[in-house]
Amino acid sequence: MYVAAIDQGTTSSRCMIFDHAGRVVTSAQQEHQQIFPRAGWVEHDPTEIWQAVREVTAAALSKKDLTRHDIAAVGITNQRETTVVWDRNTGKPVYNAIVWQDTRTDELCTELAGDAGADRYRSIVGLPLSTYFSGPKVRWILDNVEGVRERAEAGELCFGTMDSWILWNLTGGIDGGLHITDVTNASRTMLMDLQTLSWDEQICADLRIPTSMLPQIHSSSEKYGEVRPRGILAGVPIAGILGDQQAAMFGQACLRPGEAKNTYGTGNFLLLNTGTTPVFSEHGLLTTLCYRIGAAPAVYALEGSVAVTGSLVQWLRDNLGIINSAKEVEVLATTVPDNGGAYFVPAFSGLFAPRWRPDARGAIVGLTRFVNKGHLARAALEATAFQTREVIEACVADSGVALTELKVDGGMVLNQTLMQFQSDILDVPVIRPVVNETTALGAAYAAGLAVGFWSGEDDIRNNWEVGQTWTPAMPAAERDRLYREWNKAVERTYDWVD
Ligand code: G3P
Repeated sequence: MYVAAIDQGTTSSRCMIFDHAGRVVTSAQQEHQQIFPRAGWVEHDPTEIWQAVREVTAAALSKKDLTRHDIAAVGITNQRETTVVWDRNTGKPVYNAIVWQDTRTDELCTELAGDAGADRYRSIVGLPLSTYFSGPKVRWILDNVEGVRERAEAGELCFGTMDSWILWNLTGGIDGGLHITDVTNASRTMLMDLQTLSWDEQICADLRIPTSMLPQIHSSSEKYGEVRPRGILAGVPIAGILGDQQAAMFGQACLRPGEAKNTYGTGNFLLLNTGTTPVFSEHGLLTTLCYRIGAAPAVYALEGSVAVTGSLVQWLRDNLGIINSAKEVEVLATTVPDNGGAYFVPAFSGLFAPRWRPDARGAIVGLTRFVNKGHLARAALEATAFQTREVIEACVADSGVALTELKVDGGMVLNQTLMQFQSDILDVPVIRPVVNETTALGAAYAAGLAVGFWSGEDDIRNNWEVGQTWTPAMPAAERDRLYREWNKAVERTYDWVD
C-alpha cells in the first residue's frame, strides 16, 4: 500500500505517491496558466486547476499501474492564501482565484489598518494587514464582482483556499462536497483566531465577510471524508490537509520546537517550530499554525515569507528571455565569477518578511558598462540567498537561538551555485534531504498518520536522510561587504509606490 499526495502549487499541480520509507514511487505534474490582467494582479483559473489535479492523479497512478485499492489515504497540500469563491449549487467559481502574490488589495489594507496601523489584528491572527492574505481578497471579490455580495449573504457561496476547493470537488462537489479547511490554511486568511482556532467574528464583520461562506476548520491530520464514488480514487479516505510550507515542515521532520526549514519555491518560506504556544514576532515574522494532528494540541511556527525567489528565475526566462529554461540560470550565472557589482531586488509584490514594504518595487542597481547577462543571472540567484539571510536574522533576533545549520528543500536547491552561495552568505552548513519533495511528502505523512499507515513521529524522523551538505567557504570580509551592499540596494526600492 501507498499514500498519495496532491500538491497544488503556485505554478503547477502534482500528484506524488509514496511508500512506507517515504520514497517517491510515481508522480505526475502539470503547469497551469498564470493570468496577469493588470500590473500587480495575479490570477489562476480554479476550474483549470481542478482539471489538472484530476489528470495528474490519474497519470501518476497509471505510470505504475496502480489503482485506488493500492492507496491507503490521500493528503492535500497547497499554495496558501490564494482565494477561490464558488457557488455551492452550481460548483462554478464566481471569479478567478486571486493569487497570494496579487497586490490589488493594497489600498483596502491601508484603509482597514486605519489609525491602528498594519498590526491592528496581529495579536489575534499573528499577521500584519497585507495584500498577501486571503481575507482582503475575499472582500475584494464581494465588493467588485457584480451580484456576488447578495449571493454570499444569501448563503449561496463558499470561500476556500485551494485545499478547500480541491477537497470540495474530490468529495462530490455539488453532490455533497465537504466544505472544510485545516488550521494551517485557516491561519493564512487573517480571519482565524490563533488561540481558539475558530473564525474571529469581529474581524469577519470588519471585513464584511459573511461567516456562512467560510469552511469548517479541522485539524491537519484526520479522516475528513472519502473521494466521491465516481472519482479515480473512489472511496479512498482524504486524511491530511496542510498548507504547502507547513507540509514541508512535516516532510523535513521539523516536529520539535527549535527545528526549522527553508523552502525554495516560487517564493521562499522559512518556518521555525515554536511548539504549542504562539510566539509573536518583533522582527517582521509571521505567527502561524504549524500543524495540528487530530485532537492533539496545535503546534505553532514563526515564518519568514519572501515573495519572489524562484519566480524571479521564471521572470528572467519569460519576461527578459535571457534564459530558455529555469535550469539555464545556473549555466549563465557561472559564466562570471561574481555579481560584477550588480544587485537585483525583486520587490515585484512589494517586500514581504521581514521588511513588509508594500511601497517597494523591484530594482537592479550597481550597474556599470561592465555588467552583462551573466552578472544579472548571478545577481538574481544571490537575491534569494540575501533575502533568506534577512529572515534568518529576524528569526534569531526573535528566538534568541543562533542558527547552526539550515535544512533546505524545493526546486531551487538543485542549483549548486545558489546553495554554495547560501551557505557562504549565512556562514553555516546548508543541508538538503535525500527526498527533496518535502511538501508532497509532508501531506502524505499527515494523511498516513491519520489512517495508521505510519505509526507516529518517529517513523517520520527515521525516514529523514541527508542528501547533500554545502559548507561555507567565503572569507568574512567578503560576506560582510556583499550583505552591506545588498542592504543598500534594498533601501533604494522603498517609497516607489505612494
Ligand atoms: O504562501 C504562499 C506559498 O504557500 C506558495 O508556495 O510553493 O506554491 O510557491 P509555492
